Amino acid sequence: MEMKKLTYYSIAIGILAFCTYACKQPQQNSAEIISGIVWNDTEGNPINAHGGGIMFHNDTYYWYGEFKGDSTYRLDWVTTWECWRAEAGGVSCYSSKDLVNWTFEGVVLPSTPEDETSDLHPSQVIERPKVIYNDKTKKFVMWMHIESPDYEKAHAGVAISDSPTGKFTYLGSFKPNGEDSRDQTLFKDDDGRAYHIYSSEWNKTLYIGLLNDEYTQHTGVYTRNFINLSREAPAVFKHEGKYYLISSGCTGWDPNVAECAVADSMLGEWRVIGNPCIGSDADNTYHAQSTFVLPVEGKQNFYIAMFDRWNKTNLIDSRYVWLPLTFKEGKPVVEWKDKWAF
Ligand code: DGJ
Repeated sequence: MEMKKLTYYSIAIGILAFCTYACKQPQQNSAEIISGIVWNDTEGNPINAHGGGIMFHNDTYYWYGEFKGDSTYRLDWVTTWECWRAEAGGVSCYSSKDLVNWTFEGVVLPSTPEDETSDLHPSQVIERPKVIYNDKTKKFVMWMHIESPDYEKAHAGVAISDSPTGKFTYLGSFKPNGEDSRDQTLFKDDDGRAYHIYSSEWNKTLYIGLLNDEYTQHTGVYTRNFINLSREAPAVFKHEGKYYLISSGCTGWDPNVAECAVADSMLGEWRVIGNPCIGSDADNTYHAQSTFVLPVEGKQNFYIAMFDRWNKTNLIDSRYVWLPLTFKEGKPVVEWKDKWAF
């Protein structure tokens, strides 16, 4: 009898322990996206892929982002703005079939602690990496923002790989078209042409440059957009033949209001159509900043708007805000959702 009681007791404790464990598990065990909480990878480690972008290739999504070091400090010798930074850990990659469960594929462009002169030394800044696939060369091409610790360098860096999971070979950095390149993204069009979109001229003006056939250099064909309007954090997507560009204002790590513009071609005229975000906290982009807009495969009129909720005093703990973007009355609309599923 006593033995039986003990067995029941042990089973009850076991069930309780399992439930407590299960409840603590990260969101990838459900099919829901919950913005702002810690997102763990399939091994239970927090996803470290900030300022990132997603490439869909051979039925798999690859998420590339900034792999931030775990100590944040402020450069007190930079007095014009709050220059918080973390050691640059390189560029990470996570893969997923369902956009909810993410497997860590490693740091596909590692930093180089052994080479103090390299752009990729942890003391430097590597931000907003984006990857596209070149169908002609069969290479995966990564562009990123390369900075000095005080953010005065303003270079674009390029790396290539034969595989989406690397390792990527770093080709170097430069000022495209002879001008600054800070926050940036890539856009590959249906016709195979690719564009580099980057904040230039001390972040005052956003440039869009056509890349060469290999996607590794600029062609010299570019446009200056939103002149003197200080836009950064660009994210570009195409919907029903038109091009859309979401960006933020320039307020360092602090959030501000997003803005969307539309154009008939990437190098054409961009017309501002307002803030795509609606509802509470729309005026500060739900305490976050744009990084990418992902068309979801197999869905019409359905995109994921990806934002970073920066934690400037603990940058590695910055969170991800992913929300559905749909078109209503011909305009892109993003609305806060506590949780959502596909
Ligand atoms: C805003 C940019 O969007 C971020 O990527 C980062 O560069 C911070 N500024 C630095 O303050």
